[in-house]
Amino acid sequence: MPGAIHAEGLVKTFGDVRALDGVDLDVPEGTVLGLLGPNGAGKTTTVRCLTTLLRPDSGKAVVAGVDVLKHPDAVRRSIGLSGQFAAVDEYLTGRENLQMVGQLYQMRAKAAKQRAAELLEQFNLADAADRPAKTYSGGMRRRLDLAAALVVSPPVMFMDEPTTGLDPRNRQQLWEVIKQLVSGGTTLLLTTQYLEEADHLAHDIAVVDHGRVIAQGTSDQLKAQTGGERVEVVVHEREHIADAAALLDRYSLRGLDNGDVTVEEHTRRLTVPVTGGAKLLAEIIRELDTRGIEIDDIGLRRPTLDDVFLSLTGHVAETADPSEANGKEAVK
Ligand SMILES: Nc1ncnc2c1ncn2[C@@H]1O[C@H](COP(=O)(O)OP(=O)(O)OP(=O)(O)O)[C@@H](O)[C@H]1O
Ligand SMILES: [Mg+2]
Repeated sequence: MPGAIHAEGLVKTFGDVRALDGVDLDVPEGTVLGLLGPNGAGKTTTVRCLTTLLRPDSGKAVVAGVDVLKHPDAVRRSIGLSGQFAAVDEYLTGRENLQMVGQLYQMRAKAAKQRAAELLEQFNLADAADRPAKTYSGGMRRRLDLAAALVVSPPVMFMDEPTTGLDPRNRQQLWEVIKQLVSGGTTLLLTTQYLEEADHLAHDIAVVDHGRVIAQGTSDQLKAQTGGERVEVVVHEREHIADAAALLDRYSLRGLDNGDVTVEEHTRRLTVPVTGGAKLLAEIIRELDTRGIEIDDIGLRRPTLDDVFLSLTGHVAETADPSEANGKEAVK
């Protein structure tokens, strides 16, 4: 059964840039999908196609049970969107912007006013509510754009980099707002550059690169794919490296002859893939001690979402360098 958001083979080209090269997505009702990917991967283009702002060259999309290509107007009535590039009217105040959105959705003036006041409070904009939006800082604008997307609570929401440019406190608060929204039954597709955010909010994560979904699953599933737990040991004396390697090899997951222990001579660091977690760690520490191998450091390391991202896309998430994007940077 298709979920609240379903996309199949979405293709979109701009001149000779193939921004989407067959995107498939499924977001079950009431869940959050985090869309990750390096700059220029096609995240915003995917969101724009799903929210009727852009017509794909081919493919199919169903949002809130409605065919996006056949009935864009009906789709628009069932969705909320907050964009990477805010759609705020500069000359209106924050309050006026929000009231106007309410009126666009045919709320009564009084209800629109009340909703605007609630949101201004919730997004820490009450003090600036009656100033024109053009006097707002970047973070304030972003919050106003998000508030505008939440004036009515539509069954399906899209947020393109909702917390880019927000300080940690405002980011945390937005996460709370998002969790409330989702616990009320809203389905959400969110793009983000912050892997921690996807880890925290998303039930499922899809990694996009070069216009395709290259991996999808829960954060745990993706981490497991990238490689399981490892024990890392730093021995105090260089002479102990060989002994430690032999010992660790016995705990190695794959049980190959010294094949699985990685040794970095100059840092005296040994790494071995394991299963068994903390219990195994305690045992290794005892064994090292029994053999008189002194250590500077030991730890159990699990792959992070950063490791997943790096191994899938070959990019580090935060430092996606425009020059690496082969001139495919988004037009901003
Ligand atoms: N209107 C447009 N005209 C021409 N090319 C475009 C247009 N919109 C997007 N592109 C190209 O399509 C590709 C995908 O862009 P998109 O904005 O979807 O990436 P993104 O994943 O959102 O990146 P970012 O992380 O930088 O926001 C890029 O190569 C971009 O240059
Ligand atoms: Mg984008």
